Amino acid sequence: MTETVQTGIYGLDEMVGGGFPKNRIILILGGPGAGKTILASQFLYKGIAEFNENAIFVSLDEGKKHFYSEMMNFGWDFQKAEEEGKFGFIDATRLSRVAMLKEKMMSEESHSLRGKQLPIDKLVEQLQEKIKEIDAKRVALDTLASLFYRFLDPIERRTAGVDLIEALSDLNTTTLVTTELEYLSLERKLMDEEFLVHGVIMMQTLFSGGSTVRAMQVEKMRGVSVNSNLVPYTIDRNGLEVYPAMSLFRDK
Ligand SMILES: Nc1ncnc2c1ncn2[C@@H]1O[C@H](COP(=O)(O)OP(=O)(O)OP(=O)(O)O)[C@@H](O)[C@H]1O
Ligand SMILES: [Mg+2]
Repeated sequence: MTETVQTGIYGLDEMVGGGFPKNRIILILGGPGAGKTILASQFLYKGIAEFNENAIFVSLDEGKKHFYSEMMNFGWDFQKAEEEGKFGFIDATRLSRVAMLKEKMMSEESHSLRGKQLPIDKLVEQLQEKIKEIDAKRVALDTLASLFYRFLDPIERRTAGVDLIEALSDLNTTTLVTTELEYLSLERKLMDEEFLVHGVIMMQTLFSGGSTVRAMQVEKMRGVSVNSNLVPYTIDRNGLEVYPAMSLFRDK
């Protein structure tokens, strides 16, 4: 039996047979505004607050101040957790797409493959050190999509993705990696990363008759028995909640 880690997110544990597989990588896929950042942060915060598992957030999209203030909207005081030595924030926004646009891809670094890979290797080293320092058990990286803007060549991009996921698998932490989907359809193309990770959860917004509903599906979770129905979830001031009993496509 695979050992699991309770997420602490209402309804989600039930979807994945009790929790995420311990010390494995789960990919969170979704479009803009789907709630990827909230899900990842909630997993970390619940870990700290309810399960005595310290956590690290690796941010490629937003800086620490912005993150802390956004999360206070849900009552999650990451600043306090950091002061208590239970949380670490790694600001990797310099590697993001915006930073790349600023560099205008002119520098030496953005041209050679070694130059592009180096900052990612350094990021992994920094993460390893922080994990040791605070004895972290949970990690979230938000978002992989931001890293890929460094790699215009699909083969380079693939190699970088594989390398990063392999490095993350060696961390002995339960790790969520968020990424974006360019488009969603029932027959979407699988991404390379999906074959490398232990679990894949997809978050999307469905439009029907003028209204919208947020829906989540566990597409894969090795070693645990899952509810693979497309089920609704909501986001409110308490964060994210999932409703496993309310499958959106019923057989009967
Ligand atoms: N208090 C709240 N009540 C209801 N909905 C909220 C609340 N706070 C945030 N949201 C919703 O959460 C979503 C944003 O969540 P989040 O930032 O996690 O998305 P994301 O998938 O990370 O998006 P992005 O691709 O922009 O990074 C928005 O759709 C917003 O409407
Ligand atoms: Mg986000």
